[in-house]
Amino acid sequence: SRPQAGPTQCVGPPYRSESQKPSATVSVEVNHENVVTLAQTPQLIALLTMIRDKNTDRADFIFYSNRIIRLLVEEGLNHLPTVEHTVTTPVGRTYAGLMFQGKICGVSIMRAGEAMEQGLRDCCRSVRIGKILIQRDEETAMPKLFYDKLPEDIAQRWVLLLDPMFATGGSAVMAVEVLKSRGVPEERIIFLNLIASPEGVNNFATKFPKLRVVTAFIDQGLDDKNYIIPGLGDFGDRFYTM
Ligand code: URA
Repeated sequence: SRPQAGPTQCVGPPYRSESQKPSATVSVEVNHENVVTLAQTPQLIALLTMIRDKNTDRADFIFYSNRIIRLLVEEGLNHLPTVEHTVTTPVGRTYAGLMFQGKICGVSIMRAGEAMEQGLRDCCRSVRIGKILIQRDEETAMPKLFYDKLPEDIAQRWVLLLDPMFATGGSAVMAVEVLKSRGVPEERIIFLNLIASPEGVNNFATKFPKLRVVTAFIDQGLDDKNYIIPGLGDFGDRFYTM
């Protein structure tokens, strides 16, 4: 039988009855307050289906990934603080609204996280974006920090940490430790990813209970090479080279 990420549910527009809706595999549910999974709408499931398909070519992979990244960034921004802000409209009435409070920046975990930078720039004009490069140390097989370039005032900012695939979480844990060592409190970090594994999410929830994870989908698990399953293969290869 087909590998299943999570339960199969009827997914479709509300004007259709349950029996008329097609069924699709939806995200595994986890019980952590700090993990937000995007609503499993027909739109999101169809976008994810495109990028999971091994026959999707690079141009489509980029296009549909970018649409999901945009949804993730918009949801991530919902976790920033706001203050009341009233404006006057062109017809002379007032509108009691909100505005964002506090400065933000993006930090991408290279290389795959860089694919999410444009989505952040599309929502937040002239946003500062830092980078962290973590790779496996050949001698110890442990993740090792090779390079970082972060805004000098990062301790005063909210950080949107970008990495599309949240597998074991080894690199992400190290990236968070780098951010914390630069003075960023855990509660001001929002980690955005397209597909997470239950292992990665559970690992993070235990280590960093105040940090928020915003993901489009939590998959079934990891294979023996630590690829997410069913997953989508190597995100960086598919976005940059294939
Ligand atoms: N990174 C990827 O690109 N894919 C996975 O499945 C896991 C980590």
